[in-house]
Amino acid sequence: MSDHKPYRDSHEPDEPLREHVFDGIREFDKKLPNWWLLTLYGTIVFSIAYWAWFHIYEIAPTPEEKLALAQERAAARAAEERGYDNERLWEMALESSIVDRGRSHYVNNCAACHGMELEGGIGTPLVDADWQHGSEPMQILKTILDGVPEKGMPPWRAGLGETRSAEITAYILSKNPGLRNGASPGGSPEEETP
Ligand code: HEC
Repeated sequence: MSDHKPYRDSHEPDEPLREHVFDGIREFDKKLPNWWLLTLYGTIVFSIAYWAWFHIYEIAPTPEEKLALAQERAAARAAEERGYDNERLWEMALESSIVDRGRSHYVNNCAACHGMELEGGIGTPLVDADWQHGSEPMQILKTILDGVPEKGMPPWRAGLGETRSAEITAYILSKNPGLRNGASPGGSPEEETP
């Protein structure tokens, strides 16, 4: 071992060794296999293409964006499916938590015109027997959502949305138990809900 010639096994191939010695271990000076290099370069090319595709040119939405989009669609669909009908709105009128929320939306948005006790003012009373735009729950909800702009009743679809408008409807119904049995029909035929 005086000439520092490394130990070589008899059945080892007679190939050049690298200069380095790591803890007495030496390596053959071999080329990396082509499949391995191809994988490496392929990964690099892929990562650059991926980066350009998703982050520089934004050709396709990233997985996060796709997820957000899907969640948005699901929420919109759930809101659609929740739907309302007369029966559901009457049920809501019996749920105190919904009525309480409806009351606070009413106080904030409607009381200025319709009065704290729905007794009316600038707007018509919402506790009397006279419902020009219909006294069915769905008709009341529709009046709130679409308003009667030409008569000074603003539409609330954009400002409050369906859920809060439905909660207000429940609150109004809770103050008009007599309407349950269709006390005053009101509304013109074309405003009637199916
Ligand atoms: C700027 C004043 C104003 C505000 C605020 C207002 N309203 Fe009105 N509302 C009116 C007026 C005026 C009418 C009467 C429209 C008509 O004569 O056709 C009316 C009519 C209505 C009707 C129809 C009543 C009927 O006889 O059929 C309902 C229901 C109603 N409002 C609910 C609401 C609710 C709920 C809110 C709050 C989200 C609200 N309004 C906010 C002015 C207002």
